[in-house]
Amino acid sequence: MSQDPSTASPRGTSTGLGWPGDRSEVDRPSTFSTGLGWPAERAHPQEDPSFPQPSGTSPSAEQPDVVSRETSTGESAESGDEPGEDDDVDTHAATARLVTPAPEPTTQPVDAVAHARVIRTAGDLARVAARLDDDSTPLARMAEDTVRARQAAANRDPVQRPGATRILVVANQKGGVGKTTTTVNIAAALAQLGQRVLVIDLDPQGNASTALGVDHSRGVPSAYDALVDGEDLADLVSPVPDVPRLDAVPATIDLAGAEIELVSLVARENRLRRAIAGHPRVGTAETAGEDRYDYVFVDCPPSLGLLTLNALVAGREMLIPIQAEYYALEGLGMLLETVEMIKAHLNPDLVVSTIVVTMYDGRTRLASGVAQEVRDHFGDQVLKTAIPRSVRVSEAPSYGQTVMTYDPASPGALSYLEAAREIARKGAPQ
Ligand SMILES: Nc1ncnc2c1ncn2[C@@H]1O[C@H](COP(=O)(O)OP(=O)(O)O)[C@@H](O)[C@H]1O
Ligand SMILES: [Mg+2]
Repeated sequence: MSQDPSTASPRGTSTGLGWPGDRSEVDRPSTFSTGLGWPAERAHPQEDPSFPQPSGTSPSAEQPDVVSRETSTGESAESGDEPGEDDDVDTHAATARLVTPAPEPTTQPVDAVAHARVIRTAGDLARVAARLDDDSTPLARMAEDTVRARQAAANRDPVQRPGATRILVVANQKGGVGKTTTTVNIAAALAQLGQRVLVIDLDPQGNASTALGVDHSRGVPSAYDALVDGEDLADLVSPVPDVPRLDAVPATIDLAGAEIELVSLVARENRLRRAIAGHPRVGTAETAGEDRYDYVFVDCPPSLGLLTLNALVAGREMLIPIQAEYYALEGLGMLLETVEMIKAHLNPDLVVSTIVVTMYDGRTRLASGVAQEVRDHFGDQVLKTAIPRSVRVSEAPSYGQTVMTYDPASPGALSYLEAAREIARKGAPQ
């Protein structure tokens, strides 16, 4: 039995996305992604049978003044205009606007997908989405996200320094959800916004060190020395090239052994807390002065072992990246139980202050469903800015850079900048 498109459920009404037990979204046809937040190539339109279509007369045909003449070519033919006029419109189209050739005239009502194939700018997409009076289409949502990110970046109000160093632990025992990417990019974004920031790489793989362009070959002073040998953190800090105000403590492969070595040490879960608290630039304006760090980010490995435990005992806030994919929420229960145990026994101040949805592809129902579900469960803890899936974000580390310096105007960088602003604006939890 096929589903009536007009009753297709809009965003956010599906239940159980990503939670165990609901597989309803798994069998959807996969969509082709350019990875840059733009519509897919014309040869690969999203043709989801349950894609909500506007019914009846095209809204843009009713109000032709709003949609550009180029984009209305199809409707003109439909409403019986002279063919000569179409040619004329095409000539203008080449010069007037950033558009691709208009589609063949059709007797079908013009829908969101047809519009999307001829429109190239985020502004155009947003306008057309509004005309279609259907903000539940994946393209409209994607356009909305892009426009919001660009507008927010343009609106550069200054970011206030927190009164005392905020320590954020970026953790999720799942691998590949964007912990490291989120850590380095939000840290770099905050530094670009004038904040003094320290990143502590606590993953033996040293991905954050790589992305920040900081040496993490074996033997280099690293987080291992602070954790296992009790060295001063200040002696292990390196400045991050290209990003003023951003420092990093690298992780070397030695950290892989720390997980075992820590077991026999005194106060084994408190060692990072002591190291951070002992840094002269960590504290309030009174205790650490004007040069204090405003933010310390700790990038955790994908496990709930002693390294992550050390981080959760050291931090006041926890930042959880959640990948907008199926199974995203599985395992989160265990993570939150661990947080409760740490709060009860080791660090009563710990708060899950921030959740960020990563690798978000607004054109897929799955991604928006997961994002909605995360919001339903966690409310205000979830940043309004989701991080789009973007090739530029994933290629930046291979140049030893964050996307904030590698391609600052890309949608990924703009989104991380806006996410950083949100974190700063929200302030430390009370
Ligand atoms: N927004 C994004 N767009 C595209 N690729 C991403 C994005 N965020 C992360 N990635 C890629 O996903 C992979 C896993 O990300 P990573 O931050 O290393 O996850 P984790 O630290 O949780 O293991 C990396 O290859 C990274 O480049
Ligand atoms: Mg990582």
